Amino acid sequence: MYGMVNKAIQDLVTIKFGEDKWEAVKRKAGVEIDSFVSNDSYPDSLTYGLVGAATEVLGLSADQILFAFGEFWVLHTAKLGYGDLLSSAGRNLGEFLDYLPSFHVRVQLIFPNLKPPRFETSDRLPEQITMHYFSHRHGLSMFVLGLFSGVAKMYDTPATTTQTKFKDKGDDHDEFIVRWGDAMKV
Ligand code: HEM
Repeated sequence: MYGMVNKAIQDLVTIKFGEDKWEAVKRKAGVEIDSFVSNDSYPDSLTYGLVGAATEVLGLSADQILFAFGEFWVLHTAKLGYGDLLSSAGRNLGEFLDYLPSFHVRVQLIFPNLKPPRFETSDRLPEQITMHYFSHRHGLSMFVLGLFSGVAKMYDTPATTTQTKFKDKGDDHDEFIVRWGDAMKV
């Protein structure tokens, strides 16, 4: 993955837990790189290794770290580095999610070697949408839940997301239903 992903993990650990913990995570993961270059590509195994090491150093589960990383990615990394791109993707949560299937096409203009996720939408109601997530990577559904949570917070819109299909339990992709407003009461 692009270095900006590893750099974002570094920022998350450093800001929330301190520099010492980040150095410990790197040591445990056997990573000797001092600073990641955002526009360089690194093996996915390095990113998974950092998450694995962070679970041990911070005493959190991989799910907890991936969820926190999803929120941080939207509310910190994307907002600071790509605020215009993010805010032009929708005026509210619903519009943003409607547009998400096309979003990484624009990201790909900045990062040409991107191996982006694929999102599809269905069953759109005024305050509800079903999001289908396809990826050639594994184990990232909690990251996606964190991303949706971060996007809802970005729009100050309380929302709930329920996962309804699980790739790691044999479904062909992950599926999530996002509800906000009155749809949350159902
Ligand atoms: C300006 C904002 C964003 C930028 C610059 C961005 C960029 C990236 C980059 C560089 C990667 C790593 C993939 C690679 O290097 O091959 C990635 C992966 C990913 N992005 Fe985004 N992204 C943004 C926003 C979002 C949002 C809002 C979502 C969903 C709500 C999202 C969902 C994902 C997922 C799930 C992955 C994991 C890759 C996979 O599933 O295979 N991204 N993105």
